[in-house]
Amino acid sequence: MKIALGSDQAGYQLKQVVMEHLKEQGYEIEDMGSFHEDPVDYPIYGKLVAHAVKDKTCDYGILICGTGLGISMAANKVRGIRAAVCHDCFSAEATRLHNDANILAMGGRVVGPGLALKIVDTFLNTEFSGAERHVRRVEMIEAEDDFD
Ligand code: RB5
Repeated sequence: MKIALGSDQAGYQLKQVVMEHLKEQGYEIEDMGSFHEDPVDYPIYGKLVAHAVKDKTCDYGILICGTGLGISMAANKVRGIRAAVCHDCFSAEATRLHNDANILAMGGRVVGPGLALKIVDTFLNTEFSGAERHVRRVEMIEAEDDFD
């Protein structure tokens, strides 16, 4: 399984920790940057990772900025991307089971490395439930906005 990783400066350190953890477990990694702790614009990395997942170059993405919020908002602009900010394992499991999330977003200023790695493991080891109601709702997320 191949995982795309992206961060800004506020997520850089945690991205490095996540990358080492995933490599140890045998995952293939595509590190899409940032590659340093100098200030960068998080939407660039959110969208790079989103496109890698959309184009199926990578199976899942993990995005980390200060809060997980801005970088997930950028990723969610890309059609077919369902990026979920998770700072607990319950949410990480639920967003795979119910929402078929394809990108996990976290805040490097919100969670420490110990919890972050458990969230990552939970997200990557949980399959979409496939229940009819969840399939229908994911399709509704992906549909053109009915209220426009
Ligand atoms: C950078 O200071 C910060 O705004 C960014 O990492 C992120 O938290 C935005 O949502």
